[in-house]
Formats: sequence, structure tokens, C-alpha cells
Amino acid sequence: MYRTHDCGELRISNQGQKARLAGWVQRLRKLGGMTFIDLRDRYGITQLTIDEKAPKELVAIVETLGREFVIQAVGTVAERSSKNPKLPTGDIEILLEEIKILNASELPPFTIEDESDGGDELRMKYRYLDLRRAPLRRALELRHRMAHEVRKYMDSQRFLEIETPYLIKSTPEGARDFVVPSRIHTGEFYALPQSPQTFKQILMIAGYDRYFQIVRCFRDEDLRADRQPEFTQIDCEMSFVEQNDVLQVFEGLAKHLFKNILNLDFSDDFPRMSYSEAMNRYGCDKPDIRFDMKISEITNSVKGKGLDLFDSAEYVGAIVAENCAEYTRKQIDQLTEWVKRPQIGAKGLIYIKLAGNDVKSSIDKFYTPDELKTLATTVGAKGNDLILILAGTKKTTLPALSALRLEMGTRLGLRNEQLFKPLWIVDFPLFEYDEETQRYYAMHHPFTSPVAEDLPKLETNPAEVRANAYDFVINGVEIGGGSIRIHDAKIQRTMFKVLGFTPEEAEKQFGFIINAFRYGAPPHGGIAFGFDRWCAIFGGSDSIRDYIAFPKNNAGKDTMIDSPSTISKEQLDELGLRVSD
Ligand code: AMO
Repeated sequence: MYRTHDCGELRISNQGQKARLAGWVQRLRKLGGMTFIDLRDRYGITQLTIDEKAPKELVAIVETLGREFVIQAVGTVAERSSKNPKLPTGDIEILLEEIKILNASELPPFTIEDESDGGDELRMKYRYLDLRRAPLRRALELRHRMAHEVRKYMDSQRFLEIETPYLIKSTPEGARDFVVPSRIHTGEFYALPQSPQTFKQILMIAGYDRYFQIVRCFRDEDLRADRQPEFTQIDCEMSFVEQNDVLQVFEGLAKHLFKNILNLDFSDDFPRMSYSEAMNRYGCDKPDIRFDMKISEITNSVKGKGLDLFDSAEYVGAIVAENCAEYTRKQIDQLTEWVKRPQIGAKGLIYIKLAGNDVKSSIDKFYTPDELKTLATTVGAKGNDLILILAGTKKTTLPALSALRLEMGTRLGLRNEQLFKPLWIVDFPLFEYDEETQRYYAMHHPFTSPVAEDLPKLETNPAEVRANAYDFVINGVEIGGGSIRIHDAKIQRTMFKVLGFTPEEAEKQFGFIINAFRYGAPPHGGIAFGFDRWCAIFGGSDSIRDYIAFPKNNAGKDTMIDSPSTISKEQLDELGLRVSD
């Protein structure tokens, strides 16, 4: 037997017992004549102790130990004289009697402790060492528990977990596909799924009624902290449902996870907000509603006073930072620089400070104190508040105000990680128009059904058609999105037409699903959640990387296995591929 206990298990109640442990040497310390070894495994750390009076052979082996050696140790559990309240095993130590080196280790390139001294790249290259650290281990444990609870809940709701293929044909979700060349069919390619969208709809047509899958998806898009080229969805679909049925079942899933993972109770229904309210009052479609600070449009209130910045603007909007009137010149300048960065792209920042009856502003020359006070009342500012104003086109100013709002929220400590504010966004437009390519794109995906009453406008006025679609947002992060689907082949054809597909192109790319619609497609709808994002937000992190065992770095590479990489000429020949120089 390699071990009688794990390294997180022994307590004072085990005092006097013999224990055999196995694990990695995290740390060696010498103090006087004593040597202390922190032995680590997945479950925790136990201190092994040996003093100079121990048998020579034992001391000799301990002398050769280094960090990350794998050892087996036998000894008696004893009470520690100086206890460590931070460790669950901190009351005891093991007085070493036997030790065996199971494997030596080279000196690791960084320290394997909660706070490592290794940089990002180094830790990615040696991911197996990074994964030994407790914060990563805890993240993967959280992920495991979440997946387990998802399966428990979905099973209780009679969903079947069904796997769908990875070698498929392109599914349009708005990103680029990763493709896999076929050897047998030279010149032809599989595509890796961006999501199992078409398959889950086909499962509904096949009568499976309630499907889910915790499934890998692949999208060749630019990376961000909350995006990976391969990521995992909790993908779901249901038959004979309307929007409200779907929202209720999945609000149930969210509440189940809040309760069973974080021990948080949500008795009330999650709020629902229309897309247009989210855009107008928060400047984005995934508002962080942990704090208020809504955007007010003041375009019409500020024009006509000779200030060109406002007079020439299509849109002027303001937010109110409560009790921030004492912001100094320097702080305002710093915020101004912040909004002028290319990522935000504002031209400048106007402020109004209210200090009791006094107003100070960067636009004093154009507005009387009374006019400024009226403006303050319009945007709901009081006593000691600071009003921040941006102007420009609506398309660029709203997102800039949204970013400024989040930044102020962060600066003012209003975005508490322990507080969770889930939210549904509903009533999305069905399409968005792209000026560059001069065509409409499906805002969600081409299988999303229009709201029934807007159907007559589908061909004549697509911009005004609302979608039967919804997003799930927690604390400003888009966790999931879905829709009620089109189940009528005729409407699906019209949809492709509005999206600029000729009937031949639609047939070539989507013939299989349009055909399937001809054989009794039930009304259906569903949703998919970004599982990595959900784990990260429950873990209190912005970055999904720590919640994925083997993620790609921010250049889309896995530096541990050195991927992507070139392949041999033989492999290329076999696939009928040529790489240009
Ligand atoms: P959507 O494209 O909105 O919908 O994706 C669903 C959720 O997946 C997460 N997500 C990502 N997570 C990490 N890295 C990425 N690159 C990434 N891209 C998306 C987000 C998002 O909300 N088939 C539809 C769902 C449906 O209609 O049922 C779909 O895939 O959290």
C-alpha cells in the first residue's frame, strides 16, 4: 500500500497513530537540528519532522531531497509544538521513521506555492507544475463540482445528455471555423463545431424533447481574457416551449448552482431587461447591475449654447458618480486620459461638480450656474456628486460611457466579487446591419425566430424585427444566450434570403436542416451557457484560463505542447495540401 492517509487528512485525533503518506516535497526547512518537510498532494500539506538524533541512513536520504521530489514517508502522528492555524493539518506533524524516494525532480523553474514567482509564459510552458498549485487545483475542483451539479439538475428535469460530432460542416455562429482536412476526400474539409446548434435542433426534430451536453466548441476568433479558441458550453434544447418556459427552466439551473456551489439563495425571479433599455441606460447589452450609475441621455438639453462639442454631437450622455465632487483636477485629468485611450476612443471628458449650492464645471463659459443645476437635476445628481459627460456619435459614445461607468464602479469599490446580480436580457433585434459589407447579419444566429407580431416586417423592414432571443448575464459578463428557433422551413428560407444567401447557397450550406424541417419539426428553443465563464465568475475571477486545465495563451498557442506547429511533408502530401512559402 502506497499510503494509509492523504496529506490533508490527519488531525490531532490521529495522535500516536502510524501513518504512511506519499506526495511531493513542497518545502524543506532546517531549524536548529531539526528538518521540516512540507509534503503535498492534491488534498493538502502535512509536515514531516526529523531531528538529528534520527538514524544516520534516514538523515542521509533527507539530505538528498529537493523541491518536488516524490517521496513516501512513514512515521507517527504527533502534536506540534508550534501549530499552524492556516493549515487544516496544522496541529500535527509526522515524526519521520522511514522515507523512500519514489522519484527525483529537477529544480522547478518557479515556486509552486499559492503566490508563484513564475511569469505567465513560464507557467503556461510548465502547466503541469502550475497545476500543482492550490489556486489552480481549487479552480479545477470548482469546475468539477459545477459540472456535477449541472448534470444533477438537468437529469432531474428529464434532460438527456447526448453527444454530437466534432467533425462536422461549418455552423455559422459569427466566428471563423477551425477546419480539418480530410485525407480520404482530398481537397475536402471537416469543420470543428462553433456550437452544436444544428445538431441539437435536429435532435428536437428526432423527438428527443430535452437535450443537453457539456460540450467543447471551437471558434477561430481574437482572444480576450474571457475568450478561448476552444471553450466549453452547457448546451441545451427543449421542444414545445415558449421563451418563458426556457427562461424558467434555466433560471432553475442558475439557482441550483448558486445554492449548491456558493450556498446563495435567490428567492425572487431574476430581473428581465429589454435590449433597448440595456443599451440606453448602461451602454451595453450585458450590464453590471451590482451598482446603479445609469446613463442619462442629455443631447437635447445641452444643445444651442455655443459649445461646438455638444452642438455637433449626435449624442450626449452623462453618468453621475455619487459623492465624488471632491475629485481633484489631477483625478479628472487622469480620467480624461483614460477615456481618450484608443480602446475607449472618446475625444474628451466634460465634468460638472456639485458642492452644496456651488457648481464647478469644465463648461462654465457656456452655461450659467442655474443651467448647470437644472442639468444636474435632469440627470438625478445631488449634493456632492460628480457628473461625467461624453459626446459624439451614438454608436461610439454609448460604449465609451459604458466603459467609463464600469471603471468608476471599480474605482469606487462598487463591483464586489462576492455579490452576484443575475439578469436576463430580452427583446434583442433579430438583425444588425453592417455598413462595411452593406448587409444584415443575424444578431444571434440564423435559426433564431422573429417575434410573431414582427413577422410581416421580416422582408420589408428587417431592422425593426425583434428576435425571440435572450441572454443570461451575471455581473456584467455574458454567461449564456439562446432563442426560440424557427421551425417552419418557409420562414427559415426567408431568413436566409434576408441574410443575403441565394437559394442555392442556402441549400448547399443548410440543406440538411431545411430538409429536416419538412418532416415534422416541433416548436423548440434553447440556450447555451459559457461553462468556463460561469466557473470563473463563481470563482471570483475575470480570466477563464485558470478554470481550464490546458488553455491556450493569449496568442492562441499551447506552449507546453508547442501547438499549433508545422507537420511533415509526408503528412501534407497525404492530405493533398501545400503550404506556400
Ligand atoms: P453563443 O454564441 O451566444 O450562443 O454562445 C453561448 C455562450 O458561450 C460563451 N462563449 C465563449 N466562452 C469562451 N470563449 C469563447 N470564445 C466563447 N464564445 C462564446 C458565452 C456565450 O454566452 N448556439 C448558440 C446558443 C443557442 O442559441 O442555444 C450559441 O453558441 O458565455
